[in-house]
Amino acid sequence: MMRKYLIAGNWKMNKNASESVALVKELVQAAGKQSDVGVVVCPPFTSLASVSEALADSTIEMGAQNMYFEKSGAFTGEISPEMLRHLRTSYVILGHSERRAIFGETDALISKKVVAALANSLKPILCVGETLAEREGGKTLSVVETQVKGGLQDVSADDADRVVVAYEPVWAIGTGKTATPEMAQEVHAAIRGMLTALWGAEAAQKVRILYGGSMNAANADALLAQTDIDGGLIGGASLQSHSFVQIVESARKLS
Ligand code: PGA
Repeated sequence: MMRKYLIAGNWKMNKNASESVALVKELVQAAGKQSDVGVVVCPPFTSLASVSEALADSTIEMGAQNMYFEKSGAFTGEISPEMLRHLRTSYVILGHSERRAIFGETDALISKKVVAALANSLKPILCVGETLAEREGGKTLSVVETQVKGGLQDVSADDADRVVVAYEPVWAIGTGKTATPEMAQEVHAAIRGMLTALWGAEAAQKVRILYGGSMNAANADALLAQTDIDGGLIGGASLQSHSFVQIVESARKLS
């Protein structure tokens, strides 16, 4: 089966609303008409409304970087799935390692967010990945398995084509250290196996598994050429249009 590549930019806590629109205009110009590859930008919450407008006539979609699972109410500082949908948000990054490490998010919480995202027509990008100590301790696959199973425990096979998993080794995020294509493929194939155990082979084949962690224009070709790498979740290299667009072009060449 041919899965369509997905290249997603995770801007993290960068760019105010005007800077966001400026970047998105460049992206629309360079990659906003093609549909060979799915392209998603995930700006901070404060930029979602203006970015959504700037993307209106393009094929580029928008994602959020987080959300809460409740509909509305006394949850000071939180954003609901419905609020994101209202701004024409299509994707939401959930369980990013920075949310897990800095904000204490657990698999139980992330699982509720995944369910709420799907119930509100948002496609979750569930992030998983091991720390350096876990890798060196030989625990990579067991850590990733706990996160994949924990995050997707209440999702059925029927939703597989709307679920995206991002494998992001924590030691590779923002460090300039990338997993080699072979190292990444090994974990991606294992994740595909975990999804097969969960939902069966047919559903597992539909899930896009992105690689993230210092992915850039120079290493994208080799990573994206791997059988089970279906795209990228790009941090640093998504903050400038030329590097992000080059990664989109790498995926287009392989499509
Ligand atoms: P990076 O971040 O590309 O800057 O390593 C990726 C991510 O954290 O999603």
